[in-house]
Amino acid sequence: MLQRLADVEAMNKDPNGRPALPNDLITWLVEDSLHRGEPRKGLENLLIGRLFMANFAAIETTTMTITSTLFDILSSSPAKKFAETLREEALNMLKASNSQPKKEDLLRMVRTDSSMKETLRLHAIFKALAREVTAPKGVTMENGLHLPKGSRVCISSHGLHNDESIYPNATTYDAFRYSRVLEQPAENGTESPKPLSQSLAATSEVYLPFGHGKHSCPGRFFAADEMKLVFAYIFSKYEIMPIEEKRSDLAIGFFPTPAFNGPIKIRRRPETVPSKVG
Ligand code: HEM
Repeated sequence: MLQRLADVEAMNKDPNGRPALPNDLITWLVEDSLHRGEPRKGLENLLIGRLFMANFAAIETTTMTITSTLFDILSSSPAKKFAETLREEALNMLKASNSQPKKEDLLRMVRTDSSMKETLRLHAIFKALAREVTAPKGVTMENGLHLPKGSRVCISSHGLHNDESIYPNATTYDAFRYSRVLEQPAENGTESPKPLSQSLAATSEVYLPFGHGKHSCPGRFFAADEMKLVFAYIFSKYEIMPIEEKRSDLAIGFFPTPAFNGPIKIRRRPETVPSKVG
């Protein structure tokens, strides 16, 4: 970070004197900070903190979602055939795309998408969304309650996601809860649901793993595609044994995180092992 700070400062003084800087998040953070004139003393620590936050927002969330989805699938009754169905979907997608998937190929992975969406319903990484009133005169709610500037409001995603009146069998992991809606034939006179309305990236007032509204997660479309690719890879190349007992989430501060302990039996499918060279 110190080196990049020095490089950006040198570049600002003499744009022609140095080679181009890497076009990455570290450069953007440094340029933004210098542009805003933040005090130089201890700046590297502030920037490292921002880098950590960005890493958490983008990488930890995605990793935790993949891990929790795997646990949910593997600990569901084998009779539900979740893993087999996802493998079939992955193989079909890879075959149709000649193993070079594009965005439109990933859109066809509606069951994989649904299984991740269901996992995030039950294991939302942020159990509540917090907002602070910034309007100088505060905000008056529809019921007349006045919230002065500085008030903090939390919406319980956990409560909504586990509400039986919104999600029947709310505490059960039902991997294809969302894709089933899409795959049901439309009844006479009704329109089929639009695929995107049921997709992982679709937020709503009762589906909040990515927030909702103006500040909802801008990385969720990327995360959905990235995770589908990971699942296509895992299910096409590996065989994973079911796990008998569901492990409870751990907590890191306020963040529920999948359990670290406990073995998963996994082996590479023999047909996918590359033959030895030479
Ligand atoms: C499964 C993966 C992810 C989950 C569950 C997730 C969840 C969230 C949540 C709950 C918020 C807060 C929304 C709010 O306050 O209303 C958020 C914000 C944000 N996320 Fe994600 N996220 C994920 C992946 C990513 C990725 C991959 C990136 C970037 C590449 C990213 C970048 C951001 C940013 C920049 C914000 C702040 C948006 C704002 O304040 O306007 N996220 N995310």
